[in-house]
Amino acid sequence: MKVVIITGSAHKNGTTACLTEQFIKGAEEAGHEIFRFDAASKDVHPCIACEKCHGESPACVFKDDMQELNPHLIEADAVVLVSPIYYYDINAQLKAVIDRFYANDAVLHGGRKAVLMVAMADNNAETARGALASFKGMTKYLEWDIAGTVVGVNCMTAEAIRCTDYPKQAYELGKSL
Ligand SMILES: Cc1cc2nc3c(=O)[nH]c(=O)nc-3n(C[C@H](O)[C@H](O)[C@H](O)COP(=O)(O)O)c2cc1C
Repeated sequence: MKVVIITGSAHKNGTTACLTEQFIKGAEEAGHEIFRFDAASKDVHPCIACEKCHGESPACVFKDDMQELNPHLIEADAVVLVSPIYYYDINAQLKAVIDRFYANDAVLHGGRKAVLMVAMADNNAETARGALASFKGMTKYLEWDIAGTVVGVNCMTAEAIRCTDYPKQAYELGKSL
């Protein structure tokens, strides 16, 4: 299976990087092919809704790092979204990438599994409600099947998340994909 993992955090060794690494470990052990796109270190312009991508010669006006991601996204059997919770939602870096799915909207519908993994400082999973609702909405719209989620609470730092069960959950989700 071709698996695309898109992360939002700028922390190379943060909490969500820990979840990402464990997911990849499990997925690779299961024989899946991984393409990882760390949005925070990429040049991805936010969508400006110019609609050129849905015009006569459809293409996004921004020739940025989405050009690197798009071929993998189109071919993916599974898409994994990973983000720290910022103000009760996924962060802007990841959201900018998702909004740019718009340029390939027609070919992205159907036939994919989807995973969301988030981590946050709060000790209440309710804080991820908005992120989970968006994820459920977009996967329903895109007709992707949710393969699983990991919601890490009480995880302000990488040290904190390593003392929890969440890295194992991420590993097992990768392995079971
Ligand atoms: C701008 C910003 C907003 C945040 N908002 C929240 C929040 O609403 N709720 C929460 O529990 N944690 C919040 N946090 C904490 C992060 O979600 C938490 O530290 C997370 O584990 C960071 O993940 P990372 O190390 O992968 O970047 C916020 C952190 C930042 C920098």
